[in-house]
Amino acid sequence: MRNNQSNIKKAKEYLDNNICIAVPTETVYGLAGNAYSNVAVKKIFSLKKRPMHNPLIVHYHGLSSLKNDCVLNEKFLQLYKKFCPGPLTFVLKLKEKTKISKFVNNNKKIIAVRFPKHPVMKNLLKKLKYPLAAPSANISTKLSSVKATDVQEEFGNKIKFILDGGDCDIGVESTIINLVGKPKILRLGGLEVSKIKKFLKKKISININPSIKKAPGQSKLHYSPGIPLRMYAKKAKKDGAFITLKKKKINEKNFFHLSKNGNLKEAAKNLYKTLRMIKNKNFKTISVEKIPNKGFGITINDRLTRASKF
Ligand code: TXA
Ligand code: MG
Repeated sequence: MRNNQSNIKKAKEYLDNNICIAVPTETVYGLAGNAYSNVAVKKIFSLKKRPMHNPLIVHYHGLSSLKNDCVLNEKFLQLYKKFCPGPLTFVLKLKEKTKISKFVNNNKKIIAVRFPKHPVMKNLLKKLKYPLAAPSANISTKLSSVKATDVQEEFGNKIKFILDGGDCDIGVESTIINLVGKPKILRLGGLEVSKIKKFLKKKISININPSIKKAPGQSKLHYSPGIPLRMYAKKAKKDGAFITLKKKKINEKNFFHLSKNGNLKEAAKNLYKTLRMIKNKNFKTISVEKIPNKGFGITINDRLTRASKF
């Protein structure tokens, strides 16, 4: 139903006219515009209230379109073959002659690119003559959107069209790997770093809290539900909500769980959804019990740590 051609056609019409729209991906919804258009890209920054120095990820359908804009190295090709399309973003060198708007990446010579797996997004990208610049569809520093109504809540009628692709499968943003020089992880996300390490058969350095100058987007406050959040908690605060990993046999209105039986992948998928729900129920604080720091738990803890800087 949702992957219907008339919606894709409508989406294309908006994008062709430099109007930004929301698009579904397997990680989170994106706020998309033509990455070759200065006008469209500048609109993304202003809609999202994002500082212009924080670069955007550009989304491609596949290698043939990427080749026009980026220098492809051996590591990239290996990882692309193994993990794409999927929740992995690559930082690569831009070609000298590229049509990418200089506003996408603050006029730098490197750029972040990714190949989404969501069938609706793939279908759309295939029909366009340009790649899509798309940050997560939320106001800067706030919670990312994992379904169409979240986008509506974030932007109201400031966005003309939301291409509805249902709930996002993964529910947290893509993992970012820098492949300019030695591979380095810049953001934990929807692809576990252990899988990348295992595939490359070597250790990879993780640099997820760099100085403001290096990667402005990884700021300490991010993914914020807008109310104080506390980790490693044993119980809720007064008027506060309590999040557990597994469902508990307690029937309290302020208890929320991320997964039925403690599955960390399911928990990551439900993280933003749960935080948004708690915020909308007008709880004053959020306390989260200790989440094991392994597999997707590492990504969950990264997001919670940043959300707790409110
Ligand atoms: O899953 C995702 O990646 C989602 C969906 C919509 O694709 N997109 C997303 O975009 O999370 P955004 O803009 O919310 O986060 C992109 C992150 C930012 O932290 C930004 O600083 C970083 O990627 N980034 C973008 N370009 C970069 C570059 N050239 N070098 C280093 N970091 C970069
Ligand atoms: Mg974001």
